[in-house]
Amino acid sequence: MKFFVDTADTAEIRDLAESGLLDGVTTNPSLIAKSGRDFIEVTKEICGLVSGPVSAEVVALDHEGMMREAEILRMIADNVCIKVPLTVDGLKTCRKLTLDGTMVNVTLCFSANQALLAAKAGATFISPFVGRHDDNGFDGMALISDIRLIYDNYDFATEILVASVRHPIHVLESAKIGADVMTAPPAVIRQLFKHALTDKGIEGFLADWAKTGQAIG
Ligand code: E4P
Repeated sequence: MKFFVDTADTAEIRDLAESGLLDGVTTNPSLIAKSGRDFIEVTKEICGLVSGPVSAEVVALDHEGMMREAEILRMIADNVCIKVPLTVDGLKTCRKLTLDGTMVNVTLCFSANQALLAAKAGATFISPFVGRHDDNGFDGMALISDIRLIYDNYDFATEILVASVRHPIHVLESAKIGADVMTAPPAVIRQLFKHALTDKGIEGFLADWAKTGQAIG
């Protein structure tokens, strides 16, 4: 499963990219607003930090407007992936861009039928929002299972990008279901490294090692 980080904070992206575990980045208008930076400038910087897809979201709601914005965004770098909402105009835009060879991430997916439409529109990625789904009394991970089943039934090449990930269990369940990608905030990715028994084990080994009076090298 590929790991994307869901942030526009370039310091966090740089740091996580050094771990070698980062396969891409997702942003959205809220994350750009949080960064306080110019959209084009920060997206360009992010595209230079990772070689994988960097999702940059259009804000127009009509197809023509989305295409105009996408033209600007896709000039930023070869690894820009245009993010469009799951609407009729969004899917029209998706079809047009993917036929041109541009990567497209269809976002704000909350049903398996929506995911089916996105795959038929040729989306590179579909982003079901599991955390927001859970928040509204639905089962986010059941949505991922349904989409996996449908995509496998028809051999769709669209990758399932699990979004709105809130905790490590979302990551674990996504991997068990066979999602292609998950995108999570930096804090959740950092949580994946942690285990109390790992910390305790290191502490014990170091205490015993100190008793030997030895040094390596
Ligand atoms: C995905 O591409 C979105 O940017 C993101 O995962 C939204 O997550 P949120 O529900 O925590 O805002």
